[in-house]
Amino acid sequence: MRKITFYDTTLRDGEQTIGVNFSNQEKVSIAEALEAYGVDAIETGFPAASEKDFRAVQAIAKTIQHSKVVGLARMVRKDIDAVIEATRGAVHPAIHIFIATSPVHRESKLHMSKKEILDKITADITYVKNYMDDIIFSPEDATRTEPEFLIQAVQRAIDAGAKMINIPDTVGYATPDEFGQIFENFSNQIKEFNEIGWSTHTHNDLGLANANALAGIEHGATEVQGTINGIGERAGNVDLIETAVALQVRQNKFQVSTNIDLVQSKKISNQVARMSKIAIAPNKPIMGRNAFAHESGIHQDGYLKNPETYEILNPAMVGAKASLPLGKLSGSHAVMSKLNEMGYEIGKEDMQIIFPHFKAVAEEVDIVDEGQLESMMASIYEKRVV
Ligand code: KIV
Ligand code: ZN
Repeated sequence: MRKITFYDTTLRDGEQTIGVNFSNQEKVSIAEALEAYGVDAIETGFPAASEKDFRAVQAIAKTIQHSKVVGLARMVRKDIDAVIEATRGAVHPAIHIFIATSPVHRESKLHMSKKEILDKITADITYVKNYMDDIIFSPEDATRTEPEFLIQAVQRAIDAGAKMINIPDTVGYATPDEFGQIFENFSNQIKEFNEIGWSTHTHNDLGLANANALAGIEHGATEVQGTINGIGERAGNVDLIETAVALQVRQNKFQVSTNIDLVQSKKISNQVARMSKIAIAPNKPIMGRNAFAHESGIHQDGYLKNPETYEILNPAMVGAKASLPLGKLSGSHAVMSKLNEMGYEIGKEDMQIIFPHFKAVAEEVDIVDEGQLESMMASIYEKRVV
């Protein structure tokens, strides 16, 4: 099976989320958790941004043993030098260097011609090569770049020594077929396609980040860049947990393996939620508290007969638990099962008496909790109807 590696940028793109500001201690702790989770490369920050960021990258470089320790740089010498310096001492140091290639970025932001951009790619990657071997190159806003120019930019980076080409859908604009086609074009037109790595970097502005990452993988990408819980600029980055789980649940389709230890998903998701102070939406795939909660009577009955009726993965696989919250749509089967779990010995016939009482309670509240069930049962027993 083809191996897909995971590259986490929670500490860099994730920290670009409004209101997120990890302390350096938190950054080291998250990096350790990412390494334990099986992430292959950790983008530790943008060391040229500030003294604090520089020190965070340095501290992580000293701590992490197995994952690559990556620093981000624009094609600006001071950025590049800061990465070289901050990652010195890491067991596996790497640099992620980028320059925008799309017309709007070239004309409005960089004020550079296509030729100037191509020459900059050659010059800066050649410079980095004197100090570091592991070079990841990104043509920023790749998905809004003319396809022929994108190929030229990527070819320049490969010729100068880049080991991994990352394709950012910087503003979350691409659809899965378009994103997959970009990798298809590379595999047809770049002769070194199988000699280097190719990664996806997808943003979620149209809610397509995971679909795009998966499309990239289907068309030859070997690595996924993303963040834990999908935190990141604007609508965020692809959530690496979602991609890892999709690859596992649909293994027959994708035929790939990863180093991710899925059972640690809940733990690392909670840690990042706590430290980023960004709560997880209840309906978020995989990690939301509703992701394995079944409320309606039909679903609860099916689930109790066989969980596979309404679950495509065992929640234990990602360190989570299923729940059957009891509300006004719940059925008699789920209420009976909950009462028996609480220690009552209730059979189907008893439920003919109990269920109307439950319905009356459930009409008044959103979710009926154990305390309310106890009171309901006490009042039924008082009236000696069971
Ligand atoms: O989204 C983006 O384009 C980025 C680059 C730095 C790769 O985060
Ligand atoms: Zn990004």
